[in-house]
Amino acid sequence: MKGVIFNIVEEVIVAKLGPAAWDEMLSMTGLSGVYTSLGSYPDADLDTLLAACANLTAADPSALLQIIGEGSIPLLFDRYPQFFENALNARAFILSLNTIIHPEVRKLYAGAACPHFNFVEAENTITMGYNSPRRLCHLAHGFILGLATHYDETIAIDQPSCMHDGARMCHIKLTWQ
Ligand code: HEM
Repeated sequence: MKGVIFNIVEEVIVAKLGPAAWDEMLSMTGLSGVYTSLGSYPDADLDTLLAACANLTAADPSALLQIIGEGSIPLLFDRYPQFFENALNARAFILSLNTIIHPEVRKLYAGAACPHFNFVEAENTITMGYNSPRRLCHLAHGFILGLATHYDETIAIDQPSCMHDGARMCHIKLTWQ
């Protein structure tokens, strides 16, 4: 996992829970918390940090990941405004993930393991098929919540199947109201 993701996780946690919470999480886990944006770090660090945060807040790690995803969108907008400027709405943004956004991310961050989504489109829905050994569907869910806020849209999000429940892949269904 690229350091930029850990940088964003830290920023969201510090903004929501304060710097002492991040320090506490580091002392609970023994992790240094030093992540350079271009560096690559073990995926397991994210699970370890989430488990510590869950301990601290009594929240579910998957709920925390969703909150982190949602809180990440304004930070991603600051860092990569061009991705948002080129997409007029959340639908266009999401449909550009495989063709523009994640390919550009792979150019910026060598070795980035960005997911590829399968999109099934209908008039007011998109169903996103997601399959990754990292099983970060809750992060994706949070990103979509953040995009809805960013574009001032109302998007209902269901997950009819989930790898965390034993499914082969996750399906994330977005419905515009
Ligand atoms: C400005 C927009 C975005 C940027 C710059 C971005 C960038 C990144 C980066 C740097 C990674 C880490 C790759 C690695 O560490 O190896 C990543 C992973 C990921 N991204 Fe994006 N992303 C964006 C938007 C989104 C959105 C909107 C979604 C979903 C709706 C999404 C879903 C994911 C997921 C689930 C992962 C985890 C990797 C995995 O599943 O294996 N991203 N992204």
